[in-house]
Order: sequence, then C-alpha cells, then structure tokens
Amino acid sequence: MKKICVMALMLLGIVCFNTSVNARARNIGVIGTGYVGLTVGACLAEFGHHVTCADIDATKIDMLNNGKIPIYEPGLEEMVTHWSTHSTLKFSSDPGSVIESADVVFIAVGTPMDEDGQADLRAIRAVAKTIGTHLNGYKLICTKSTVPIGTGSEIMSIIKKFAPAESEFDVVSNPEFLKEGTAISDFMQPDRVVIGCHTDRARKIIDEVYWPLHEHGVPFVYTDIITAETIKYACNAFLAVKISFINEMANLCDATLADVLGVVKGMGYDSRIGHKFLRPGPGYGGSCFPKDVQAILYKSRVANVDLKVISSAVKANELQKELVFKKFSKLLGDNLADKKIAVLGLAFKPNTDDIRYSPAITFITKALEAGAHIRAYDPIAIDSMRKEFPCIDYHSSLYDAVQGVDGIAILTEWDEFCTMDLAKVKDLVKTPILLDGRNILKVNELQELGFVYDNIGHAKV
Ligand code: UDX
Repeated sequence: MKKICVMALMLLGIVCFNTSVNARARNIGVIGTGYVGLTVGACLAEFGHHVTCADIDATKIDMLNNGKIPIYEPGLEEMVTHWSTHSTLKFSSDPGSVIESADVVFIAVGTPMDEDGQADLRAIRAVAKTIGTHLNGYKLICTKSTVPIGTGSEIMSIIKKFAPAESEFDVVSNPEFLKEGTAISDFMQPDRVVIGCHTDRARKIIDEVYWPLHEHGVPFVYTDIITAETIKYACNAFLAVKISFINEMANLCDATLADVLGVVKGMGYDSRIGHKFLRPGPGYGGSCFPKDVQAILYKSRVANVDLKVISSAVKANELQKELVFKKFSKLLGDNLADKKIAVLGLAFKPNTDDIRYSPAITFITKALEAGAHIRAYDPIAIDSMRKEFPCIDYHSSLYDAVQGVDGIAILTEWDEFCTMDLAKVKDLVKTPILLDGRNILKVNELQELGFVYDNIGHAKV
C-alpha cells in the first residue's frame, strides 16, 4: 500500500512539474543560429519553452535538421539533439513564419566589426525589418546580439516603420555573457542576467522566459535599454583592459626577472581584483573582445569622448601578439629562413574551433614572412585555420607536428599540450627550442631535458 502511495506521489509530482513547465512554456523564435543563437535556443528549450531557431542560411538549417551543428561548443550537439527529438527545439530557414508564430523573438545575429571598427548592423537591421513585416500581434523582441550603445531605439524604429499601424510590441536588451567553450554553463548558471526594458509588460514576459533562473536565485539587473547595452561593452572592455594589464606586467617581469605567476597570485587574493582574467599570454582574440572594444571606441569617437584606457589596452594587445613572435624569433637567433616551426594551438582559446583574431594568425603570418615552414596542430581548429592558411602543413597530432622541427611555439592552452610527453617531444625535434606562450609547461622539466625555452613573464610554472 505504502509503495503505491509513494509511486502515486511521484507521478503527481512529475505531472505537476510538467504542467508547471507547460503552463510556463512560451513560443520562442531565435533568429540567428551561430554560437549565441544555438546556445540560447537549446537552453530555452531546456527551460521548457517551445523554440524555433531560424536562419536565412538554408545549409545551416539543413545540417541542424539532420542532427549536426555547424559549430563546436562542448555539450551543445547533445543538447540540440535531445530537444530536437522532443520537438521542443525546431529549425527553420523561414524567419518570417517563425516570427509570426512566436510570442517572444530573440535577435541573435552577428554584428561583426567593419574596417573602421564600427559594428556592421546590416543583419540586425534586416531582422528588425522582417520582424516588423511579420508582426501579427503583440510580441516581445529580445536583443541578445551585442549591439552598439543606442541601437535598441533604432531596432524599435525599424520595427515600427514596417509593422502594421497600431501594432503593439516591446523591445528589451538582454546581452549575452557567454564564453566560447563554456557557453551552456554560462547561460544556465550566469553570474547575473541583465535586462534593459521600458515597460512592466516586457519585464513580466522576460521574467517568465527566464523562470528557472529566478527560481535558482540568479541576480537580475533591470535597467533601461541603453544602460543594458553599455553594461555589455563595459564588461568586455574591462576584461580586455585586465588582460592587457597583466600582459604588460608579464613583460615587466621578463625584464626584471620577477615571476609573473607570483605577481598574479599576490594580486588575485585582493577581493577588489580577483584571480580571474589575470592569465598572461599572447594577447586576447575571439569573436567578442576585439570587436567590442573597437565598437565602444568608435562610439566614443562619435560622442567625442576620449577612452584612453581602452584604446591603450587595444594597442597593448596588438603589441603582445607581435612580442610573442619576437620572443620566439629571438630563441632561433632571429633567423627563421627555411626553419621548420611547429605551431601548437590555432584556436583563440581552448575548447573552441574559433580562430577569429587568434594570436596564431599573427604568429603564422610573421613566421611565413620570415621564410619559415609551418607545421601546425590543433585538436579542433585545423579546419577553421586551413581556410585562412591553406598552404601550411597541418598534422593529426602534436607529436607528428613537432617531428624534425627547429622550434615549437605553444599558442593555445589545450589540455593535451599541458600534459604532453616532453621527453618524447625532445626525441622528435631537430633542436629543442620551445616558446610556451601560455605558461603551461613546468620550467624544471624543460630545464632537465635541455630545452632552450621562454615563456610569458619569466613565469615559474
Ligand atoms: C568573451 C567574454 O568573456 C564573454 O563574456 C562575452 O560574452 C564574449 O567574449 P570569449 O571571447 O568566448 O568570451 O572568451 P574568453 O574566455 O573571455 O577569452 C577571450 C580571450 O582572452 C581569449 O583569447 C583568451 O585566451 C584571452 N584571455 C582570457 C587571456 O589571455 N587571459 C585571461 O586571463 C583570460
């Protein structure tokens, strides 16, 4: 009897939970299926919403409908497959119809940087127009894409221009803080959610969209739209400044023979500083920091405000990428002509296939200019880099890449590089010269094996 009661209670609990989830389920459209759009779509499906991700790139949508995702993001393929088979996550190459059947529409298209540092808003404007022309009732439009400060009002104007007269809608700014390689956990356990909105109706709906995060006590920061847009840029610009700062401290340590890792340790315990984003390296890359710092600098020029700290951080970052190449070149006597060089790590960071603004691009460009022959390896990003440099040699393992080389440069801190068999590497290379661009290899082991090496900041790893 007791067992039957327990079973009944469990069944009731499941029904209530599902009912609760179903009662909260919203029809959500996500326009854009890149790193951000796919992560947002899959996670909102996990929240119990009925989500359709739309993209004008029919090839991408075909891939997604065949269970494949066009990007590498740990855990995303499994999540997309799971919710697709449960039909709460769908894909369409017709954004208009997705918008018509959605209560909430997330804008998650790219805003790449153009040549003068301005964000290219063509995709944003096109989506806003599509939303306006397909507005068939009240909808909440949620800008997830990183858009320049003040873009929210432009999105509203475009929608209004193309929507039927007297149409009702709200726009909110909901910037993403997703790091590539940890995007799912960054979405599911965020430090905070930033919502820029102007009406109670919009706030109520977006709160319902994010109901699990409210239930888990995640802090929500509510502001107006332009302030929310500014928070996003201020965060990325500050993090870029923090990275350039520690890279400059590393360069000072190289000159004074202080240990930069000791400096980081001593700094980081200060609760006002913290240890995160204080890892010296070859400079930051990726799809966000380089683009976002240029966008806020562009905006500041238009506003006639001089952001000296951020512009210095940008210059320091470009110099850092060049300095890492100079360090390596110095190890080889500043003569790279006809030398074989192994480049270990092509992605701008581990656990991604993304090479955008990767330090490896600067390094390979300069090494080729100096007449070197490159043997490149990366666990995931080879296909991405091959599009950039089709003529260099790519290898299927780090040990294959280091075979017979005059020197090795480590540019991405992939786990497998952190644990490489240095004795085996020593036997494979022509000359044991190594630049540890991410301070991942034990200095005493390199010394015992007779490597001629350098790292970033005289680091006592
Ligand atoms: C970044 C922001 O962190 C994220 O909030 C935003 O939404 C998107 O841009 P991402 O670019 O994916 O995320 O990666 P992140 O981990 O921030 O690293 C950015 C770059 O900084 C990488 O090139 C990384 O190697 C470099 N970095 C990071 C350092 O050199 N040192 C550090 O201590 C941390």
